[in-house]
Amino acid sequence: MTAKIAGIGAYVPERIVTNDDLAKIVETSDEWIYSRTGIRERHISTGEGTKELATEAARRALLASGVRPEDLDLIILGTSSPDHNFPSDACGVQAALGAVNAVAFDISAACAGFIFAMNIVQGFFMAGVYKTALIIGAETLSKVTDWGDRSTCVLFGDGAGAAVLKSSEDGGILDMVMGADGTKGSALSCTSRTLGNFLLGTAPQTGFMAMDGQEVFRFAVRKIPESVELLLKKTGISRQEIKYYVLHQANERIIEAAAKRLGEPMKKFPTSIARYGNTSSASIPLLLNEMQGRGMLEKGDTLILSGFGAGMTWGAVLLEW
Ligand code: COA
Repeated sequence: MTAKIAGIGAYVPERIVTNDDLAKIVETSDEWIYSRTGIRERHISTGEGTKELATEAARRALLASGVRPEDLDLIILGTSSPDHNFPSDACGVQAALGAVNAVAFDISAACAGFIFAMNIVQGFFMAGVYKTALIIGAETLSKVTDWGDRSTCVLFGDGAGAAVLKSSEDGGILDMVMGADGTKGSALSCTSRTLGNFLLGTAPQTGFMAMDGQEVFRFAVRKIPESVELLLKKTGISRQEIKYYVLHQANERIIEAAAKRLGEPMKKFPTSIARYGNTSSASIPLLLNEMQGRGMLEKGDTLILSGFGAGMTWGAVLLEW
């Protein structure tokens, strides 16, 4: 049995923040941001939390799939910006949906979260443990963004994407790869917020994200082609058979560099980064949702989805739509 996407949905907060808006709070420009990243604007929450974004995306995915909340066996939410340390936002989504029969938990794999969630579901389905699952990538990274740091605040956006997966005898996920390299963890990190420790006399920590952009860039440009090549080798599927490569939307230049290394044309790499920025775990389902809305996906299409991010983590899935 394999995991097959039965419905997809997405949701972003209403408020749009343009590059020109950011140029009013830090020393930057639309020209700098767009030429280095491909980003024009992003959606930023004005109060909705990760759980609210996730729940709305999930409702839309359920509607598209025709699956009722009570039919779900499993809910996995990939996020790096949960509303609480505990309870998990996945449990919050379960309650909001009334998915009374589903086990629910969050996973922390940063921008690879949606891919990791998909692969965990595939494992459960292959083992025959569960048959119907909801996976969500949802982020409100705006709450851990240092809005005075121009090197990071221009990159990220808030949003959520979700997919309902059903156990299927054919199609769906054909193969997958995942990896992690904790030795490079400091390249992209966000410490926990703390009020300090009264015993040690340590100071409070604000918990903002920090990044070595060039290190992350090099990592992504190496790991995306590597995992794609590995998947093609494992499955014996040729590049010509891949209709689209749906990559995590971190930077258009990363996508262009990966396409070049793979020797594939950019038209096989759809993007949505211009309008959303980097929405971390939400970027792949957000893009898939747009592609479906535009009629770009047909039953039987072969796709590769690929994500990478803090950890460092990476993962890719080869699937039949
Ligand atoms: N506006 C204007 N100038 C900026 C700026 C901004 N928003 N951010 C940084 N700069 C400046 C730097 O201060 C530096 O100035 P200096 O030369 O006077 O020191 C200059 O621009 C070049 O900075 P650098 O960091 O070398 O730029 P870059 O070409 O590497 O681009 C990134 C920076 C972040 C766009 C790029 O490294 C990147 O995209 N990395 C991957 C990040 C990523 O995808 N993270 C998420 C992974 S999931």
